[in-house]
Amino acid sequence: MNIIPKVVALMEKQIAFIPQLVSLYANFYREVVNNEISLAGITADDRVLNIGCGGIPFTSILIARQTGAKVWAVDRDSEAVNVARSCIEKTGLNRLISVEHYNGIDPLPFDYSVAIVALQVEPKKEVLNNLMQNGTPGAKIIMRRPRPELDHQYDLLPTAPKPVALTTQNQITFDSSVLYRVTDSPAQVSSFF
Ligand SMILES: C[S@@+](CC[C@H](N)C(=O)[O-])C[C@H]1O[C@@H](n2cnc3c(N)ncnc32)[C@H](O)[C@@H]1O
Repeated sequence: MNIIPKVVALMEKQIAFIPQLVSLYANFYREVVNNEISLAGITADDRVLNIGCGGIPFTSILIARQTGAKVWAVDRDSEAVNVARSCIEKTGLNRLISVEHYNGIDPLPFDYSVAIVALQVEPKKEVLNNLMQNGTPGAKIIMRRPRPELDHQYDLLPTAPKPVALTTQNQITFDSSVLYRVTDSPAQVSSFF
């Protein structure tokens, strides 16, 4: 992992207990998550898996609040999981959001209908492959596409399969969120054509 993702992950764990900073930081996520809700058409009937929720699981919170969908907020960092759990307690969203310790490359215990993968998650190719191979046909996967000039900071998206749709995101670190669909016979995710 490189410096920007490391700093963001650390910062989330530190500022999670300072409400003013949390609401300031939340502003970066509102439009991003609204765009993603529209992209995947998320409703209260969905079972959302948010991989890389971090210490402040904004994506999970905004999805649960805006749509009423049930969310598994997961992270491979157990410290982030503990911080995220206390964050969710404070929001009173325990009924909708369950925080779990999970690495996106491990055998998949979640029957998700929509997966949303954080920008900092790596290795993206393996995580996408896991979701594609083990998801129910028709399930949707959203990944945030890092700006190409930041390829030294973030793991870039694999070159195949191609996303079926995208929404533009006006962020410093990523330019769009892209949508994949699980098919009956998903192709292997590949870094090469
Ligand atoms: C700092 S957070 C940002 C997420 C942000 N709070 C959100 O709501 O979208 C990114 C997190 O991704 C986690 N992460 C990176 N790779 C992962 C993987 N393979 N599986 C699960 N979590 C991962 C890191 O531990 C880090 O906490």
